[in-house]
Amino acid sequence: MCGIVGFVGEKNVAELLPACLKKLDYRGYDSFGFAFQNNSLLLVVKQVGRITDFNGFLAKSASIGIAHSRWATHGAVTKKNAHPHISCDGKIAIVHNGIIENHSELREKLAKKGHSFAGETDSEVAVHLAEEFINQGRSFREAARETCRSLKGAFALLFINRESNELIAARNGSPLILGLVENGTFVASDTTAFIEFTKQAIFLDDGQIAFLGKEIELENFNTGQKLSTKISHIEWDAEQAQKNGFEHFMLKEIFEQPDAIEKCIQGRIANGQAVLPELDSIAEKLGKINRIVIVACGTSWHAGLVAEYAFEELCALPVEVEYSAEFRYRNPVIDENCLVIAISQSGETADTLAALREAKKHNAPVLSICNVMGSTIARESDAVIYTRAGPEIGVASTKAFTTQLAVLNLVALFIALQRNSAPESKVTDALNGLKSIPNAMRKTLEQSKTVEAIAGLYWDKSNALYLGRGPNYPIALEGALKLKEISYLHAEGMPAAEMKHGPIALIDSNMPVVFIAVKDRTYEKVLANIEEVRARNGCVIAVSSEAATEIKNLSDSVIYIAETIPLFQPMLSVIPLQLLAYHIAKKRNCDIDKPRNLAKSVTVE
Ligand code: F6R
Repeated sequence: MCGIVGFVGEKNVAELLPACLKKLDYRGYDSFGFAFQNNSLLLVVKQVGRITDFNGFLAKSASIGIAHSRWATHGAVTKKNAHPHISCDGKIAIVHNGIIENHSELREKLAKKGHSFAGETDSEVAVHLAEEFINQGRSFREAARETCRSLKGAFALLFINRESNELIAARNGSPLILGLVENGTFVASDTTAFIEFTKQAIFLDDGQIAFLGKEIELENFNTGQKLSTKISHIEWDAEQAQKNGFEHFMLKEIFEQPDAIEKCIQGRIANGQAVLPELDSIAEKLGKINRIVIVACGTSWHAGLVAEYAFEELCALPVEVEYSAEFRYRNPVIDENCLVIAISQSGETADTLAALREAKKHNAPVLSICNVMGSTIARESDAVIYTRAGPEIGVASTKAFTTQLAVLNLVALFIALQRNSAPESKVTDALNGLKSIPNAMRKTLEQSKTVEAIAGLYWDKSNALYLGRGPNYPIALEGALKLKEISYLHAEGMPAAEMKHGPIALIDSNMPVVFIAVKDRTYEKVLANIEEVRARNGCVIAVSSEAATEIKNLSDSVIYIAETIPLFQPMLSVIPLQLLAYHIAKKRNCDIDKPRNLAKSVTVE
């Protein structure tokens, strides 16, 4: 949801910032802009379109600058609505990520005082407010503080002023991280913007404002209290954020899954046990839980649905899997004996963050499963387990999903031993099964060409159904979501048995139906569902294993996957569905890494 980046120091920001902003374009990609300050001049450039198509500036030099890549919320995609926004006197520029909820009221007040607005965004009020405070005699710093105090909603804001050598950065609800280099400071919504230059970072918390010049000064903008800075070391590498010869990030990330799972489970399995020191801080509470509630959105929610089967089977605990956005507005009946698990790749999803805060109000212990280190959800949880998938740049989530599943299974196995709810031999077998997943994934990925050929048969259809049962039912949902989001084809996922309760009416020779049909306890039932589709001339694409010998004769196309224990099969069965969506989207000439209307990190409600 919008990417922002700024720099102050001894580098030419006119060269630096376009490259940094390109790394953030997955966060928003409808328009972009820059503001540079040098020798009391403010240079502003804005453009509709993608930063990736921008060729850079000619011979400009500056040492303070801010930049923004937009994902429109308020106001159409126009040059006027693109950031940076500029004050009426042309002295101050700001970029904003988030949503300012009281923008209408502020806009009205400021307009009465004579401010004229260039566009329709909520963000623009921030720059006029700062200008208004300066007009009233406040310093640039005071004006920025006061502006932050006056805004309601979520914001990460960068301010520059052509009469100051400082860049001011403030955060409330949207991520903002400082990157430290010799003779300069970066500030960005995500570390990928500056990881090439430094791994030393300071994660700002809500309510903090940073004054960046020769020094870094940190304060609470509400109380004015000075704060000390805590430097963290980022573990990701710059190369991980490159395509490495793959045509798209999504394809690269699909193929990275075996390595990602290896990293994810490394050191977390020993002596027949799941080793999760991350849970030490909630160990006592974990011993007392009688229920689990999982909150998440989108693909992460699907990971929660898969995990429900593992927690029930291994831990004998009741589990509810909630959409974060629904959970947060209910009056959830939870207490300190309910473990709440928040799953989020980005760790910044606004609805999941709000659900986590709601859970904490009820004293429930909160465990988060995140990919992005130092993200807000990770920091606000009682315990966090990182998925270690590395940066996921493609908007459609792939390796983040399978590593979430690996972590969730580890947590289930950990709790199972703690509660004595599963025989030790079952836990040991499962842990061995988990260790074999990377190689089983490698084998499954060998099907890529077959999947590509199948995509060639169906890419011009208008609809598709995805059906699965047990832990593969959420995989049917995930397969349909992948297809929708990157190929813009309509697709629905559902439990295979539900088809006959209505959706079967949709089936005819134009309806591809993707079945996940592996040899588990519902296999025979799925075969019956396949027969029902065939009887109505539907086209059957089966994701199956070689052991399922009946499938070949019942399907138009088969994609064979490796076999593992049923609880872990989703980590393999999802791979052909990711590839199918990818190849169909490619045939349809879609913008795979940046699908229309989407953004990687959904930091608004
Ligand atoms: C789909 C996708 C989204 C995210 C969802 C939650 O491919 O990426 O559905 O899964 O927006 O995001 P996180 O996991 O960052 O909370």
